[in-house]
Amino acid sequence: MSKNTKRLPENLRFGPLFDEEEVEMVCEVVRSGRLTQFSSSLVAEFEDAFAAYVGAPAGIAVNSGTAALHTALAAAGIGPGDEVIVPAFTFIGTVGPILQQQAIPVFTDIEPQRFCISVEDAARKITPKTKAILAVDMFGHPADLDPLRELAAQHNLIFIEDACQAHGAKYKGVRVGNLADVTCFSFYESKNMTTGEGGMITTGDERLAKLCRMIRHQGEENWGIIRRLGFNYRMQALQAALGLVQLRKLDMFNEMRRERAAIYTEALSDLGLQLPGESPKVWSVFHVYSFLLPRPLAERRDEIVERLKEERVPVGIAYPRPLYASPVFAHLEGPFDCPVTEDVCSRVITLPTLQSIPVETAKTIGEITRDVLSEYMK
Ligand SMILES: Cc1ncc(COP(=O)(O)O)c(C=O)c1O
Repeated sequence: MSKNTKRLPENLRFGPLFDEEEVEMVCEVVRSGRLTQFSSSLVAEFEDAFAAYVGAPAGIAVNSGTAALHTALAAAGIGPGDEVIVPAFTFIGTVGPILQQQAIPVFTDIEPQRFCISVEDAARKITPKTKAILAVDMFGHPADLDPLRELAAQHNLIFIEDACQAHGAKYKGVRVGNLADVTCFSFYESKNMTTGEGGMITTGDERLAKLCRMIRHQGEENWGIIRRLGFNYRMQALQAALGLVQLRKLDMFNEMRRERAAIYTEALSDLGLQLPGESPKVWSVFHVYSFLLPRPLAERRDEIVERLKEERVPVGIAYPRPLYASPVFAHLEGPFDCPVTEDVCSRVITLPTLQSIPVETAKTIGEITRDVLSEYMK
């Protein structure tokens, strides 16, 4: 038992935050019988609204973040044998699309404070076969975009940003969405704004935008003219309806995520953990709250997580191992030389920041986590 007298409810589960506005919008779509990108104007409206929000000339809605990344890579001409520089510390949705294109992910280390791709290691891993740099805005904290963009430009590479966890996050005061050649977002249920499943590509490159539109819909250029092989990655009107309402609330949701992160930081600040913060260049949207145990406790991480779960803390491990350790990458030749990724994977613990978590519950999560951890940190 924790020292804390407070208890969390059993089976704590936090979903998205909706109200009657979303319900009404979705009902209207159902009543209209106009459910698709072609029969309803809602998908185009959502694309325009989202692109305007992030400051990008074009938005292309798709049905997941993975579809956004796959479409972007295909539009950028990434194909068999091309190398793509990508962090080893990320979700499979970042890297799966590289394999789908029969290209080669070149796993790159992260920097130890914010867990985004290391610019130095990216520079080291560029070869004559490299075609793209794919950076991830990890846990809502943008990667160091300026030096990455410069590096890409120097080597004539396409620069793709995976902002699937970073809607509304800012780099040097500017929202992510038009700071790379192409930026990809996810609207999965747990994201800072959601359409259930869904995704968006934003870009300032007209040619890429046109290709992305074509690829998400079967490679069709005009009715009956199939220019190239594409997919059905179209977003539904029901998703766009949710997205339009959620987008209007995104700034508020991001403030709520930051508030929950601040509550955890206050609770955990004097234990000697590595807590998440922000680079001075960045305004993070704290998609997830992640902290590192001290190295001597790495071996006891699973036990600590189990103890927290016994106390009903909705704790997670993201990510438990570098991506290259998964069997699907067995064909790639190591060594991968990502010591920071290996270290972070062995010590990281995550707490949810979802806007649906009541402030009082977040405080209880923070207090119980502190009490459990302080038993180990003595
Ligand atoms: C960093 C990152 N990349 C890609 C994805 C893939 O997005 P989706 O689940 O919408 O396909 C996610 C979603 O969880 C993600 O967090």
